[in-house]
Amino acid sequence: MVSEKIINLVNEQITKEQYAAQLYLSMSAWFYAQDLEGIGNYFRVQSKEELMHADKMFDYVNDVGGKIILNEVPKPPHEFDNAQEIFEKALDHERLVTKSIFNIVKTANEEGDFSTTSFLQWFINEQVEEESSASTLVSKIKMVKDNPSALYLFDQELAQRVFVPAAGN
Ligand code: FEO
Repeated sequence: MVSEKIINLVNEQITKEQYAAQLYLSMSAWFYAQDLEGIGNYFRVQSKEELMHADKMFDYVNDVGGKIILNEVPKPPHEFDNAQEIFEKALDHERLVTKSIFNIVKTANEEGDFSTTSFLQWFINEQVEEESSASTLVSKIKMVKDNPSALYLFDQELAQRVFVPAAGN
């Protein structure tokens, strides 16, 4: 039995994942506008991953007999000063998401809600990966700085990313 409090937190998390999808899509658009389509691709794939996260939570609420309540997704920013700022904002955002998921796990632990803690284990592992990737990209964009050849190569590298749906999706 999953409490209403947990259902509410997971519903709120669905909105946070949807917001992350919007944020990354907006970041993607910024890079496409600069003709950096590889980096644009990276963020576009990231946006799809966030929608998949929201989808997993949607299924969970339904599976445990909760009521799915969708909230308004805030408008993402669309003005950015430079590429480094975007990567730093993406890392900050992942840290916020991690904190939010930890909060649900903490509440589930307090309630002895093993099904929710088990469900969220996948997300805890995912956040480790996401923070690690985001942090690496911040380091790389700092190395690139204003070097056009390095930026070209970085863009090529990120063009390789493809969306891979998680098992069960
Ligand atoms: Fe769904 Fe990037 O956290």
